[in-house]
Order: sequence, then C-alpha cells, then structure tokens
Amino acid sequence: MKAIIAAGGRATRMRPITHTINKHLIPLANRPMIWYAIEKIVDAGIRDILINVNPGEVELQKSIGDGSRWGSRIRYVEQAGGPCGLAHIISNAEPLIGDEPFLFYLGDNIVLGSIKNLVDAFYEEKADAMLALSKVPDPNRFGVPVIENGRIIKVIEKPEKPPSPFAVTGMYVYSPRIFEAAKSIRPSERGELEISDAHTWLIEHGGHVGFREVTGWWKDTGKPSDLLVGNALLLDLLTKEDSVQAGDIHADATVSGRVRIGKGTRIGANTILRGPVVIGENCTIESSYIGPFTSIGDNADIRNTEIEHSLIMNNVRIQARTRIVDAIIGMSAQVRSAGSSLPSGHKLIIGDHTVVEL
Ligand code: G1P
Repeated sequence: MKAIIAAGGRATRMRPITHTINKHLIPLANRPMIWYAIEKIVDAGIRDILINVNPGEVELQKSIGDGSRWGSRIRYVEQAGGPCGLAHIISNAEPLIGDEPFLFYLGDNIVLGSIKNLVDAFYEEKADAMLALSKVPDPNRFGVPVIENGRIIKVIEKPEKPPSPFAVTGMYVYSPRIFEAAKSIRPSERGELEISDAHTWLIEHGGHVGFREVTGWWKDTGKPSDLLVGNALLLDLLTKEDSVQAGDIHADATVSGRVRIGKGTRIGANTILRGPVVIGENCTIESSYIGPFTSIGDNADIRNTEIEHSLIMNNVRIQARTRIVDAIIGMSAQVRSAGSSLPSGHKLIIGDHTVVEL
C-alpha cells in the first residue's frame, strides 16, 4: 500500500510563524512536525510515500529528502493550482497512486497510537473508506459524521450544530473509488473540494464508509495553541534513555527529570533545567530557569529568564528578566528587558499577525 501525506495549504491560522516556515516543518520537541507523520506511516508497514506540496515548495524536500532516513521511498507531488481542498489532493495524485488502496494522512495531525489497526479494519470490512474518529470538545472545527445504527450515513464539514461528538481525523484509508468521488463533488462555500463531501458522495453511491475510534491522543495542529499542546505531549514521550546531555553543564547548574541537551550547548551557572525539556545544539543558557514542557531550538542565547511550557525555535535571543509561559517564539526573534531605559514601557517591534500578551 502507498501513502500520501498532505503538506501543502495556506496555514493562515498559524501566522505569523508560517510567514517564514512551512507549517509542517514547525518543530515539535525539536523535530519537524511532518517527521512524526512519516514515522507513523512507516510503523504501519508502508514504505512508498508521496507528499503533496504547494507549487514551488523546496523546504520540505530539504528537510525530508528521499525517505532513506526512514528506510522508505518518498516522492513529492505538486498540487496543480495550489491548495484547492483535500479531495483535490487525491485527484491530483491519482496518476502516481494508481488503481489500488492507499492511506491518506494530513501532515499536521499528531497521533500517539498506531494507525495499523485502521489499515487492518479497511481490509476486514472491505471498505471504500475507513475513517479514524476522535471524540473532541469542539467538533464544529472538523468534519463530523452523522452516525445511525452504528454506521456513518453522512459527513458534514465544520457544522454549526455538530450531529455527533466526533471529529473525522486526518487519517483515512481508501479504495480507488475515492477518485471518482473526488472528481464528482463541487467546491464548498470556502472554495475547497472538501474531503467530507467525498465521503458523503461515496455513501450516497453505495460505498461502505467504515470507522474506528482513535485510541489514545490525537491532535490537529490547526491553531497556535495546539502547537503548545502537541509540543508538550511529544516532550512527555521523552524517555530517560533519550535524555542525552551532550553539552557542557556548569557544576552550579541543576538538571532534573528528562532533559536532552544538544552538542556544543553550554549550560551556565545558576541555571535550573527541569524536564521534560529539549535543548538544541550550540546554545548558551545562563542564570535561567527552563521549566517543564519546553523545547529550545539550535543556537539560542538565553540569560536571566524563566521559561515554562513554551516552544522556542532556532537562533532566538532572550534576556527578559521575567517569566515567559505558554509562548511560541519564532526563528531569530529577540526578547529582552527594557531595563530602566526611558521612556519606560514595553518597546515592541512586532511583525504582521503577531500576538503578544503583556
Ligand atoms: C480538515 C478536514 C476536516 C478534518 C480535519 C482533520 O480540516 O477538512 O474534515 O476533520 O482536517 O484534521 P481543515 O484542516 O482543512 O480545517
């Protein structure tokens, strides 16, 4: 079986971070988000992987390569005309997928459990589509199934009044009948060929759309706060064995819990690191507290600051003399104390779509 990963889209809800980085490359626990999707697919025994990208994309290819890192073959498919909906991704990739079942995986979905049972269920039930459902508090943000007598009879995209407490997650297994469905539907009000409409089309045309409930945790990283949740969760998976401390740690520093430190990083005096924490390569951390559920990318310089439950990307400089919590700080950003310089007040240079809570 082949798999196709969706990694295009506009990611407007993730601005400003996505002004400079493809959403699927945002680091969670210091690894690009899409790497987790690739690992799940490979774990399910699938080695022939296509990745749908926006026209002109180059960064994803640089980060992922040809798949040999995962013992798999990865090829890239440009979505002709750019993002036009998930069902369009399927039609666009049809020539490469061929006339056979395949797994479709949205590259911004993070799941803890295995997806192998979804593939097994697809074959057991001889389904045309096998959907992974997850109970969520806010189904109106997702595709929502209407379930009657244990069967899905319709899927509604982002309904105002959700007919069930389930979200259709971004992991699907399809028979080639999905190609016909994807070609038969019309764009929605938001101008996209919706995958939910393709599911409903299949059902209305005699296809069998089965489902399994995702066991364990699932998250679609649709908005910035989801990134913090995903980051914390993946940090929590860090084991004692992963806690390699390659850096140079001052005798006066305290490192407790699961903490991974990259090579070339210097942890200075009067510093507390309390895991789960990951810190990249070539960083300097001094007179600071780095608290649980925090990831710090490469080349960071952090002094006189407390940071907790935050996602800090590469090349960041922070000397805030205060406590930073629940923060997402993008590449090459700086946060520093204004000290006693006059006039007093918060001095901000803030890019488009930035959010600051003072
Ligand atoms: C998409 C699908 C939606 C699904 C969700 C899962 O939503 O359209 O049906 O529930 O992914 O992640 P979007 O991310 O386009 O809002």
